[in-house]
Amino acid sequence: MKNTAQPLLEEYQLGDLTLKNRVVMASMTRGRATNAVLVPTPLMAEYYAQRASAGLILSEGTWVNRQSIGFINVPGIYTPQQVEGWKLVTRAVHDKGGLIFSQLGHIGTASHPDHLGGELPAGPSAINPQTKSFTSEGFKDTLTPRELTIREIKQTVQDYKQAANNATKAGFDGVEVHAHSGMLIQQFLSAATNQRRDEYGGSIENRARIVFEILEAIIKVWDSTRVGIKFNPVAISNVGIMRPDEETIPMYQYILKKLNDYNLAYLQVEGPAEDLSGTPVQVLQVNYFSHFRKHYRGTLMANLGFMQQTANAILQEGTVDLVSFGVPFIANPDLVERFKYNLRLSHSNRETYYTGGEYGYTDYSSAVQEGVIGQ
Ligand SMILES: Cc1cc2nc3c(=O)[nH]c(=O)nc-3n(C[C@H](O)[C@H](O)[C@H](O)COP(=O)(O)O)c2cc1C
Repeated sequence: MKNTAQPLLEEYQLGDLTLKNRVVMASMTRGRATNAVLVPTPLMAEYYAQRASAGLILSEGTWVNRQSIGFINVPGIYTPQQVEGWKLVTRAVHDKGGLIFSQLGHIGTASHPDHLGGELPAGPSAINPQTKSFTSEGFKDTLTPRELTIREIKQTVQDYKQAANNATKAGFDGVEVHAHSGMLIQQFLSAATNQRRDEYGGSIENRARIVFEILEAIIKVWDSTRVGIKFNPVAISNVGIMRPDEETIPMYQYILKKLNDYNLAYLQVEGPAEDLSGTPVQVLQVNYFSHFRKHYRGTLMANLGFMQQTANAILQEGTVDLVSFGVPFIANPDLVERFKYNLRLSHSNRETYYTGGEYGYTDYSSAVQEGVIGQ
């Protein structure tokens, strides 16, 4: 369907998948896997199914192994029971004609012993990332972690592969590698948190090695066209000491150049949430996504702060191919229909982002339920 007034509503061919529109639901941790074994629940299936009119849903960040846990009530995808739970979700989304990728994540040193049976979190180096971890007793400061051995790094890569394999069993349509937001991969990329002297530290190539090892492992399980990756090179808040530095731009240029050879489903890039003036990445401030377009040939997905008009505009310009929306999907399960009929959006309640069961989760109404549009 060609809808030039609203390119957001046009179909998009993502490898062999036809997205019914270019509105992607971004990954959002919602803390509703409220059971000790971190299994997705029927309530989660209902939540995702309500949002199935998105061209593609990206699941919340999901743990690839036990060591990767760093936030309460976030589901995993490393046990058979968790796979069974995810089947409820994928089936519910597919029954409504939607598509869903699993976002694979590992929090690395940004965890806390409270999540790990008292053990220290581990990552590239024994350096405190100086972020916070959400525990059952609220936010706690991160600690000085333990350095992963090379054997453990290789095992972690294998755990990503196993998690990707579990995602096939759970009925997902693809996977996304969570490589931003101060998580394990970003901890390897940043010289502030990676001071290793082996093949995973030092040069840009070495620090980025884990990205490609993880991708190589995952594409043994999934066709590369079903694998996406999400970066944010310009995050300043919430990433502790992993702030952009003089090597950030060369690092991402190196990564993008190499990613061109992978024929991935997409590269998702989150935009700047803060003013970049005076930072080592200030050159990215103007026409942010064009910098990535210049270096990346494949499908590019833009994220952060988009609304109907700005999203249609960036698609119209041809700078990116898809736009993902996070917060707008929380209170607008039918975001696509609201765009289609130019309807007002509802506002979400931040207090129930990570807690509250069905409240602030599955109880937001659609425009049909509100009687604004007919069925
Ligand atoms: C409640 C909440 C939870 C989030 N959890 C994740 C997550 O698990 N994985 C991830 O990659 N991004 C996560 N994000 C970031 C969103 O995917 C998105 O990048 C961000 O909200 C910016 O897009 P927006 O301006 O459209 O909301 C989260 C955002 C929110 C608001």
